[in-house]
Amino acid sequence: MCGIVGYVGKEKAAPILLEGLAKLEYRGYDSAGLAVRDGNEPVRIVKAKGRIEVLRQKTDNGQSLNGTTGIGHTRWATHGEPSELNSHPHASDDGNVVAVHNGIIENYQELKEKLVRNGYAFHTQTDTEVVVKLIDYYYKKYQMGPIDALAKTMVRVRGSYALAVLFKDYPGEIWAARKDSPMIIGVGREASYIASDVPAILSYTRDVYYIGNLEMACIDGNGARFFNLDGDQIEKEKTTIKWDAEAAEKGGFQHFMMKEIHEQPRAVADTLHSAVRDGAIQLVPELDDELIRSIDQIYIVACGSAYHVGMALQYVMEDLTGVPVRVELASEFRYRPIRLSKNGLVVIISQSGETADSLAALRESKERGVKTLAIVNTVGSSIAREADAVFYTLAGPEIAVATTKAYSAQLIAGYLLAIQFAKVRGEIDDTAYTGYINELETLPDKIGRILEDKERLQWFASKFAAAHDIFFIGRGIDYAIAMEGSLKCKEISYIHSEAYAAGELKHGTISLIEDGTLVIGSLTQSGLHEKTLSNMVECKARGAYLAGLTTNGHYEIEDTVDFAVYVPRTDEHFATSLAVVPLQLIGYYISVARGLDVDKPRNLAKSVTVE
Ligand code: AGP
Repeated sequence: MCGIVGYVGKEKAAPILLEGLAKLEYRGYDSAGLAVRDGNEPVRIVKAKGRIEVLRQKTDNGQSLNGTTGIGHTRWATHGEPSELNSHPHASDDGNVVAVHNGIIENYQELKEKLVRNGYAFHTQTDTEVVVKLIDYYYKKYQMGPIDALAKTMVRVRGSYALAVLFKDYPGEIWAARKDSPMIIGVGREASYIASDVPAILSYTRDVYYIGNLEMACIDGNGARFFNLDGDQIEKEKTTIKWDAEAAEKGGFQHFMMKEIHEQPRAVADTLHSAVRDGAIQLVPELDDELIRSIDQIYIVACGSAYHVGMALQYVMEDLTGVPVRVELASEFRYRPIRLSKNGLVVIISQSGETADSLAALRESKERGVKTLAIVNTVGSSIAREADAVFYTLAGPEIAVATTKAYSAQLIAGYLLAIQFAKVRGEIDDTAYTGYINELETLPDKIGRILEDKERLQWFASKFAAAHDIFFIGRGIDYAIAMEGSLKCKEISYIHSEAYAAGELKHGTISLIEDGTLVIGSLTQSGLHEKTLSNMVECKARGAYLAGLTTNGHYEIEDTVDFAVYVPRTDEHFATSLAVVPLQLIGYYISVARGLDVDKPRNLAKSVTVE
């Protein structure tokens, strides 16, 4: 995710900003930039695509930029390709306002049109340029200073933001505003700092203030002032950071995987809001209604967890749209001469956008003349560039090898496709359409609630840290959930695990069940609940220890299982988004209990760019 650093004090700002940005490298980025101001002189902006090293070279390690006030940014592209032009800081054309931004402005298109009507021109593809020019617009229109301009902007924009802003009329000051995107202020001796994340400023100060949602701040060499949305100055309590630098990078979590598990409500909400405007789903323009109506077969092609997303989506898409869906492993698909329907749509799902087999499958599909859509997390990646259309998930960079938040964001993208296809093809009416979208809106909060109860899962997982085998079973969507639960568990705990369609067990695998073998049954689909439960009972009869994963209210499973896990209720099509969370946590806690390298499991790479 993008990173922000700001400094104002007596030292040269640029080297401090570069060092701060380097501390945020772990978050992932594709370009970086600095804006530095020397007294009343105009702001100087330097940007570079690629590593911070390039920015260092361009500025002679920051020495070529004079000035003791500055802001810096590492960008992880969301709107617009990774490029020098799109990287931050962005400025109004006359340099009146210069800013860096983390987050996503959902209504940037509408705001852009308003600003164009008011004479503004746009040079980049970013939502950030729109915010910068909106601040400039309010600043000049009302002439009531930075707080008023920022507050008016905050009221007008929808989405999430952490903004660090330089105003031409206010040298030696950095202004900030935030909503749903982290931002802290650090104070030191005759210096103040601003950062999206603690590590950026930890080598300078441990004294910080947290800016609350919909609050603003102003820092100068003497400290910080804070304001609410009404423009009133507010008091804040200083906090002392006690984490060491490594813990700080992980946001205080022990591992990136746990941090990313906790980022799922945000990843889900951002992905959802990127495509839902005013209660309607807006897919990429290439997927117009005519194309959607003409599709007679959907092929979902992916690897690993992304393939499991496809497995879950198969049930949802077929049920909602009536279009047959086939899910294929990319490594098989690319060498298999299956006949693709000319009116088919190949959907490639990939977090990295660089997975060799998925990329080859995409190319193969294109060669065979079939339309392709990529659901990808990394802007500008090979799969994103080569597909006919791209739906970007907004999970942000994922560092742990075991995917969690990208998987959850991919599911959301798929649900939105399914709902929109169903609507356009006349399979659902307006009420159902709105009902599904509203239900998706509840998922971030429900995921958050599951995360509140993780200690129970930690206790449970630690009991099975020495297990030899773990079986995950389910039917329908629950089978897809089981597949992801099993992969999460085995890839980081090194315990052999299998996912089975519950009805298949007695065709061979049940012979592996012995005293104490852990069988985790997923029971989120009411129509299949009894069937799976009876398969679990068959395992219990052979000595298995049963864990049941179901929705709130199904407390009767406690008569059968040894350990029950409940997730909030949702429309059953979307159950995967909730049920997967306890399974991610179980895998995580088993790995921790075994003392393993959770974030970098043996033999695995984050991005599999070879066959
Ligand atoms: C799962 O936790 C894995 N890291 C792996 O299965 C991954 O989902 C797979 O390699 C696909 O990667 P991609 O999404 O980047 O294409």
